[in-house]
Amino acid sequence: MPHSLKIETIVVPDTDALAARAAQHFVEVAEAAVAARGRARIAISGGSTPKAAFKLLADPAQPWCVRMPWQRLELFWVDERCVPPDHPDSNYRMTREAMLDHVPLAPDQVHRMEGELEPEVAASRYESLLRNTFRLEGAETPRFDLIELGMGPDGHTASLFPHSAALNETGRLVVANHVENKDAWRVTLTWPVINQGASVFFLIGGADKAQILSEVFTGPRDTDRLPSQLIRPAKGILTLILDQASAALLPATGGDGRGVFERKE
Ligand code: 6PG
Repeated sequence: MPHSLKIETIVVPDTDALAARAAQHFVEVAEAAVAARGRARIAISGGSTPKAAFKLLADPAQPWCVRMPWQRLELFWVDERCVPPDHPDSNYRMTREAMLDHVPLAPDQVHRMEGELEPEVAASRYESLLRNTFRLEGAETPRFDLIELGMGPDGHTASLFPHSAALNETGRLVVANHVENKDAWRVTLTWPVINQGASVFFLIGGADKAQILSEVFTGPRDTDRLPSQLIRPAKGILTLILDQASAALLPATGGDGRGVFERKE
């Protein structure tokens, strides 16, 4: 894990601009991955924030939908709630309604976490899927071209919740994680897998995230309480795509809304 982390911030005015900037980022990184490696393997999060970006990617009137190299894309999830795929809480259902039903991705390009199964079964099946898809051997870790993360007001990301067992899992790729305060099971990539991502970004919006963003990225290290601090990409760079409301307590950006600051450990 790098000793110092370069955090680049891209701050846009509002929610609509956040969705557009996220769609642009998805496309630009996917295009670069396809140019370099012939395909783009992207892992996405659930929750509410990415939904507007997914809708833009699926809108044929938008430039991002036209530019996205759909035929070279493979879609994975960062995490999933342990519910059936048609359940209102399902990350897959949110993504299917916002994007998958409207874009030319074949079923074998979409790798769903099977939330309807027993949590541990779903986790081990997804781990096997990753091992097969990425042709991993031994202790190798999959290297996604892009990983999109959200952050909860409690500082969780993926389904890595404060004080939960998954925070201590470093040997597996995917685990089932019980979330005490929701009394619910989740399936999640482990943080070492996320940190191997070639490009990792947080997509965060809203004034309610300003305080936690400041604690996570400028406050003292306390990963058990603030699991998002575990995200330190091996490449040494982490991107934050934020709206002004969520970025309010972070170091200021330049006039272009771009900024960089370093987090030393
Ligand atoms: C999930 C997500 C989770 C999400 C954060 C932020 O399954 O809920 O993967 O990590 O990114 O909870 O959620 P919002 O975007 O709804 O604020």
